[in-house]
Amino acid sequence: MTNEIKNRIVSGMRPTGKLHLGHYFGVLKNWINLQKEFESFFFIADWHALTTKYNQTDDMKKNVEDVLLDWLASGIDPEISTIYLQSLVPETAQLHIYLSMITPQNWVERDPTLKDLAKIMKDKQENISNLSYGLFGYPVLMSADIMLFNSNFVPVGIDQVAHVELTRDIARRFNNIYNVELFNEPQPKLTQTPLLKGLDGNKMGKSFNNDIKISDTPETTEKKFKSAITDRNRIRRDDKGNPDNCEVVFDYWKLFGSTDEQKEICEGCKMASIGCAECKKKLTAKINKYMAPIREKRQDLEKHPDYLKNIIYEGSKKAQIKAKEVLSKVEDAIKMYK
Ligand code: TRP
Ligand code: SF4
Repeated sequence: MTNEIKNRIVSGMRPTGKLHLGHYFGVLKNWINLQKEFESFFFIADWHALTTKYNQTDDMKKNVEDVLLDWLASGIDPEISTIYLQSLVPETAQLHIYLSMITPQNWVERDPTLKDLAKIMKDKQENISNLSYGLFGYPVLMSADIMLFNSNFVPVGIDQVAHVELTRDIARRFNNIYNVELFNEPQPKLTQTPLLKGLDGNKMGKSFNNDIKISDTPETTEKKFKSAITDRNRIRRDDKGNPDNCEVVFDYWKLFGSTDEQKEICEGCKMASIGCAECKKKLTAKINKYMAPIREKRQDLEKHPDYLKNIIYEGSKKAQIKAKEVLSKVEDAIKMYK
């Protein structure tokens, strides 16, 4: 066997609570496939959560645990991937300091996510100057996450691509300024999966209360789907419907039903031989069946807090070994006193 070095990927999620099916199909399934092929670092970005939630920290521990449980239950494998907590790898903060010195302020100001956040603050009539120093540094902190392992690829959604591009700029600038070839220019690895909509037809998100959690019980899943929007023209049971006008429910059918089942539902809907209640009931049965092993595993893991803690600590230790190597090269390049 050749001693080939696998390409390295890194990606993170802010701990904001239990994950939903959008996370599972949009992000986690992708990570689960990638971890077989790449040397993978997956981390819980608790410092990034603090950039906006610095004054709402009561649930921090619970949120970290929930994310970890959702990851493990879904199939992120701590035997082959490095799973860690950002704040337990303080080398992140050290690299962030160095990168913040070489990053021009106007590069950060161009960041579209920051612009969005600034707009949200404005809409909430919060003073824009309340945008904290830490939040302002969000993209640089994210660059530190990525460069800490000198990663080649960053699996992210389209909304994060600008951040990875900034990381490339910072990596190139570091190499130029210190005249080294230390850092790769990491590439985003785009998630292909279609975005699952929330049950009300809007973007799925916990703040809209329109999501199905990975950890929801079958009963909750069924109950939530009862309120999902359907074809608005199909008001009574014997009205004929059209799945094309029933994006939400039928999108889930496309994901969870076989081609034959989709065809059957489509015909039944169009001929009014199946009602919406029955259609949704069948669908939630499929979803619940699919999710059952994941939910079971989650419940099982929940009973073993020591095991979970161990995964976080061991993973963070492992991440630190690699991070220290990179950081040491950074300090050599800058010619820090040692
Ligand atoms: N900003 C990302 C998000 O909100 C989370 C994140 C932080 C991240 N650091 C990262 C993702 C590094 C990829 C790589 O989803
Ligand atoms: Fe939508 Fe199903 Fe009702 Fe047709 S039967 S409108 S696909 S919920």
